[in-house]
Amino acid sequence: MAWVVACPSTDVKRGVVKRQRLENGEPVGLTRLKNNSVVVFHNNCPHFKGPLGLGKLHEDSIVCPWHFFRFDLATGKAEGTDASIMHLKLYQVEEKNGEIFIEL
Ligand code: FES
Repeated sequence: MAWVVACPSTDVKRGVVKRQRLENGEPVGLTRLKNNSVVVFHNNCPHFKGPLGLGKLHEDSIVCPWHFFRFDLATGKAEGTDASIMHLKLYQVEEKNGEIFIEL
């Protein structure tokens, strides 16, 4: 495991998903929760790999644009379905010195 710089802190804003690929090729979405913490999630929806980062944000959750499952971005849990089957991958994140770091 290694920490890599994803982007400058100022690139990640509340109410917006910044989509990008990590250096290992994984597509991710970055946004801020209500408490201003940064969350990084895998951009492929755990249902049928829809482009989750293109979904609508609602407070601290996001709704997939393909089949409208909702995921809690603080926990990765799918809401209203079996969370053991559909769990969104979240990354370990640190924000320091004006940069967003992700553990790969
Ligand atoms: S692909 Fe996201 S809900 Fe189906």
